[in-house]
Formats: sequence, structure tokens, C-alpha cells
Amino acid sequence: MTEKGFVEEEIDPALDLYEEIERLKVEKKAILLAHYYQEPAIQDIADFIGDSLGLSRQAAATDADIIVFAGVHFMAETAKILSPNKKVLLPDLNAGCSLADTCPADQFAPFCERYPDHLVMSYINCSAAVKALSDVICTSTNAEHLLRQIPESQPVIFAPDRNLGQWLIRQTGRDLRVWDGVCIVHETFSERKLLTLKVRYPQAFVLAHPECEEAILRHADFVGSTSAIRRFARESEGTAFIVATEEGILHQMRKDSPSKHFIPAPPESGCNCSQCPHMRLNTIEKVYTCLKHELPEIILEESIRRRALRPIERMMEMSAGVS
Ligand code: 13P
Ligand code: SF4
Repeated sequence: MTEKGFVEEEIDPALDLYEEIERLKVEKKAILLAHYYQEPAIQDIADFIGDSLGLSRQAAATDADIIVFAGVHFMAETAKILSPNKKVLLPDLNAGCSLADTCPADQFAPFCERYPDHLVMSYINCSAAVKALSDVICTSTNAEHLLRQIPESQPVIFAPDRNLGQWLIRQTGRDLRVWDGVCIVHETFSERKLLTLKVRYPQAFVLAHPECEEAILRHADFVGSTSAIRRFARESEGTAFIVATEEGILHQMRKDSPSKHFIPAPPESGCNCSQCPHMRLNTIEKVYTCLKHELPEIILEESIRRRALRPIERMMEMSAGVS
């Protein structure tokens, strides 16, 4: 592997990458997991496409020898925490997460120490080191469900996403101590442009991820995780939807309901794209080279892995049956 964080190799343009990836998956007993924010070509060849919770469950349950994780680093790292005996590969090791980066463990540890009586609930979009400092992990699918199981008398720190934290406060009436982190994709949606779109498409439902700012969420007809947004659109009698999250999700929504109209919510500046620059570092070519060379691999220190596992297992127990 090069120092770039992915395998660089000249690929014969005549090669059918889909066929090669399928062949390598069988030969190596590998599974390809992909998040909804991956480019459509990767989604189309994945064995499982899902949100953070669904992908973690798949990573824990698979009997494959190799997990190729087409997502970002914290997701592949979570797969490794759950399945330490499997080889977990990330097509591009640089695929990080701006939200996870806002919460370095060496700053989060003293923050938690200031509130020793607080339970620490962390969103899965964080490093293994931050997970190791947490009591329970959550995803956007189960955050509210988990919080409602924690007694009202128990003070709670919520990290790292301030928008999800504030949304949980509004949903549950709890007084959370929220870490001030944010996602670069979800903070850029424009309220002004959203309102213009609503005038143009008055029948459209607005669907938003809870990582969006309150200025966007207050116009939403539905707020939920990627899988919940997908399900809402599939089951709805509506025919048009403005979607405020990374636009990769639109690929499955359009496949689910070809006759419905899906409109990505526009960001404030420049281009009308709302793609996560980290997620989009993975390409179908990198999925191929990663599987072929079994690199780059996620390696984790065992003591951190064990400490990070405990709050993830707690999440799994507390959210059994939630999807
Ligand atoms: P979901 O768990 O809803 O798929 O969210 C993951 C994510 O990174 C959102 O930005
Ligand atoms: Fe992280 Fe935001 Fe990208 Fe999700 S969309 S992986 S929170 S940077």
C-alpha cells in the first residue's frame, strides 16, 4: 500500500470490475458492506446497504472472513471492535468524518472528568478512543429510544453532535450536556433555499437527518436516520420529497419508488451537491484494489477495542428490535 492510504494500481480499463469484485468476494469469503452515502456503483455491488446501526449489526453477525467496509473510518473501526477476529478493510484509509474529528479523545476525557456524576452517551460517529470513554453508544436510529431508557434523574453528557443533541433535548425534554461538534455536510443546508423549494414544490414532504441544524429541522415533515428517511418515502403516499441529508441516499429511494420525485436539499454555497467528501473518497476501483490486496486494514489496540466494545454492546442490548 502507498503512503496515500489506499492501494494505487493501474487497472486494465477492459476489466469488468463488478465481475472481478464478485469473484474475489467468493474466493476470499468476503462481504461488502456499504453505507447509503457511498457512490451508486458501490451500493449496487454491496451485499448489504444500510445505516450505521444496520451495518454494525451485519458486521457483528457475518460469518465472512473479510469485511470490506465501504463507509468511513469510524464505521469500519466499529466493525473491527465487534468482530476482532475478522480482517476489516476500508478502501481508503483517509475516509474520516468531520464530526468525529470535532471530538478528540484527549479533549473529551477532561470534559467528562468535569462532570463525574454524568452518564456519557456518544453518537457512533466518534473514534474508538472516544467510545472507550463512553457508557453507551447510539446511532441516529436508536438515540431517542436509548435516552428514554435512562432515568430522568441521571444527568447525561451527549457527544459529539450538537444538532442531534439539541434535537434529542427537544424530543425528550431532557437537559443534556452537549459537546459542540458538527458535521460539515449537514450544517451547510440552506434554510433560504429550502423555503424556495417548498414554494416550488408545495406538495413535497421535507425529510431531514437529525444532524441538520434546527433552522432546517423546523421545516421537516419527518426527521430520522438514513434508513428511517428511506422507509418513510417508500411507505408514504406522497409523490415528492425534499431530502436534507447526503444525496447518496437518493439512489436507493429512487430504486424503491421509481415514480416518485426526490429532490436533494441545497447547501448554501456554490454547487447544488450535498456529498460527504469523506464518504466519496471510496470508489469502485478502490473497493477492487482493497479486496485484491487485502489492504488497507483496520488495526486496533486491544485494550482500546475492549473498552470501546462495552458501550457498543450496551447499545445493541438496549435497542434490540429497533430499526
Ligand atoms: P445514519 O446512521 O443515519 O446512516 O447516519 C450516519 C451518518 O454519518 C450521518 O451523517
Ligand atoms: Fe461524518 Fe458528516 Fe460525512 Fe456523516 S456526512 S460521515 S457525519 S462528515
